[in-house]
Amino acid sequence: MTKVVLAYSGGLDTSVCVPLLKEKYGYDEVITVTVDVGQPEEGLKEAKERAKQMDVQHYEIDAKKEFVENYLHPLIQANGSYEGYYLGHAIARPLIAKKICEIAEKENADALAHGCTGKGNDQFRFETTYRVHSKPTTEIIAPVRELNMTRNEEIEYAKKHGVNIDFEEKKWSIDENIWSRSIEGGKLENPNYIPPEEIYQWTTNPEKAPNKPEIIEITFEKGIPTKINGTKHNPIELIQKLNKEVGKHGVGRVDMIEDRILGLKARENYEHPAATALITAHQDLENLILTRKQLKFKKTVDQEWADLAYNGLLYEPLYNSLQAFIKNTQRQIDGTVKLKLYKGSIYVVARESKNALYSKELVSFDDKTIDQKDAEGALKYHGYQSRLSKSRSKKNK
Ligand code: ARG
Repeated sequence: MTKVVLAYSGGLDTSVCVPLLKEKYGYDEVITVTVDVGQPEEGLKEAKERAKQMDVQHYEIDAKKEFVENYLHPLIQANGSYEGYYLGHAIARPLIAKKICEIAEKENADALAHGCTGKGNDQFRFETTYRVHSKPTTEIIAPVRELNMTRNEEIEYAKKHGVNIDFEEKKWSIDENIWSRSIEGGKLENPNYIPPEEIYQWTTNPEKAPNKPEIIEITFEKGIPTKINGTKHNPIELIQKLNKEVGKHGVGRVDMIEDRILGLKARENYEHPAATALITAHQDLENLILTRKQLKFKKTVDQEWADLAYNGLLYEPLYNSLQAFIKNTQRQIDGTVKLKLYKGSIYVVARESKNALYSKELVSFDDKTIDQKDAEGALKYHGYQSRLSKSRSKKNK
């Protein structure tokens, strides 16, 4: 009896993998695993039902808490952004793949499979993690990529093998978890096509958003969001609540050109209201608390962190080293930030922290704690080398 464990979302790519793994790869048993990182309930239910129809053993694993605490909180602390994309799908893949490996070990499986195509980023994220968490003898299979299948070929194959989904009905390819919702494919593949309003679900059309602006206050403890408007929420609820409150104002839409790992440029549409609010607020709080030198260096560290996260390289030792630096800076990041939301815009209007490196007395125009004359000596030397260089070049003419 040969056994393969498949990362299963219930969509077209992963559904055709089930008959493919049996028929083309000759596995006796396919086990499907759906990892719940906050995708819609109906999606989970559909995946379960489809697995049942196809008569395979199916697991559903709730990894929401682990996703938020061990993946999204570090992402917030790193102001995680790749070219303006808040990494929601990228950061979920290593966790999903790790869970698949746990089931494979429990089931004593011979192989691990995923449904990623050969054009995207997820293949890198899945396989890297599969290789880290499995035995060297475990086979790793990517049927859709290996058989070089187009979407239409997948639909044909699915139909022939009794995988009954209304795939043609689906205009867009949607991927959703607690942090982010992405909309791709179909007409959106033309970057010059203006997306219709219907692609959005988490955000109100900014033109139809409330006419009254709203101020929302977020509290952070050690760089982790804990309260909204002074009320404590558990980590999952906090993000869900912010997605609603912020999305209501049309905030958190992104339409962008993204550079994929392979170098392909892709048009991506995202909705991530909570992510937008939390990263905007967190970054501002860091500006209040960290030193100029810390901030400058952390920008570089954050960028490296985002590149590793995008590439699915969470097991690269550098990732740990960067995490250590980031964690060290976050010990001070306690405080609150007030954000104003209005018809698609979001901006910080106030911030406060007991750890602020800010002194109202020192910077105020109405205070004499600093004797302004003290600046004179520093001014004489400010730009000193530029002056010398200028007079030297005059002399040498
Ligand atoms: N472009 C996003 C990324 O590489 C993925 C968008 C969601 N789609 C997907 N197939 N996971 O992270």
